[in-house]
Amino acid sequence: MILEALEWCLTPASRAARAGGHLSEQIAIRHRALRCAEAWAEHLARTKAYVNARLDQGGREVAVLGSGHLHDVDVAGLLSRFDRVVLIDAVHPLEVRFRAATSRGRIVCLAADLCGLPPDPRLGPTETVRTEGAVFDRIRAADLVVSVNLLSQLVVVPVRRWALAEHPDEAIIRAARSVLEAHIGLLRSCRRALLISDAAHRFDGGPWEDLLLGLDAGPAEESWMWTLAPRGEEKDGRVEERRVEARRLG
Ligand SMILES: C[S@@+](CC[C@H](N)C(=O)[O-])C[C@H]1O[C@@H](n2cnc3c(N)ncnc32)[C@H](O)[C@@H]1O
Repeated sequence: MILEALEWCLTPASRAARAGGHLSEQIAIRHRALRCAEAWAEHLARTKAYVNARLDQGGREVAVLGSGHLHDVDVAGLLSRFDRVVLIDAVHPLEVRFRAATSRGRIVCLAADLCGLPPDPRLGPTETVRTEGAVFDRIRAADLVVSVNLLSQLVVVPVRRWALAEHPDEAIIRAARSVLEAHIGLLRSCRRALLISDAAHRFDGGPWEDLLLGLDAGPAEESWMWTLAPRGEEKDGRVEERRVEARRLG
């Protein structure tokens, strides 16, 4: 608890990332990944292997969206094919910033909210989603873009905020779908893009529930199971599995 509080104070993050919960979520992921290391190992390895198998064409710059702690990103593999790896996330953990700072410019951290909504947290679920501006331009200009276990997470913070403000469910779902749609559209507008994302989840082996709100992202090249919450991880004792899909877009 003390270490988490220290990390919360020391990690550079925008006011919005602190207040909105991105920073806390990311610190939580670090600890969850440690607790669930065995259950997550195959998912992390498959994510890296899927990307590594598609690095035949290298280039100047590869952009990694949702890079976080780099649990599922083989930076060395990317650096062997690209001059520069640009990591883009709402928050970059300290150790990742340190790695970038000592990489002689070959690893760059860009902190940005990629959900495409205006930053004002008071706004409701009626704002237009826009994937415009310097960060999105840089993404579109990259030789390869990899969206790594980010898509379903893009809606977590805004949906929580809208739900707390008691906006109607239909409006929240419509807005969340626009965020997901815009991310898929962004990747489709890139030269080459890979999308790895959880697409459905289930509890205790029950029925699968769609996480992409009915959106069709096109055929997946690979799919696998990720035991996000093994037995004992969640307070309610339920096991949560996610179906992850990996596809080329753009
Ligand atoms: C499930 S994690 C992906 C795993 C991550 N690559 C890792 O190894 O830790 C999702 C990542 O997406 C980031 N994220 C969530 N919402 C975001 C947003 N709106 N804009 C940018 N990054 C976001 C989180 O900060 C987190 O690092």
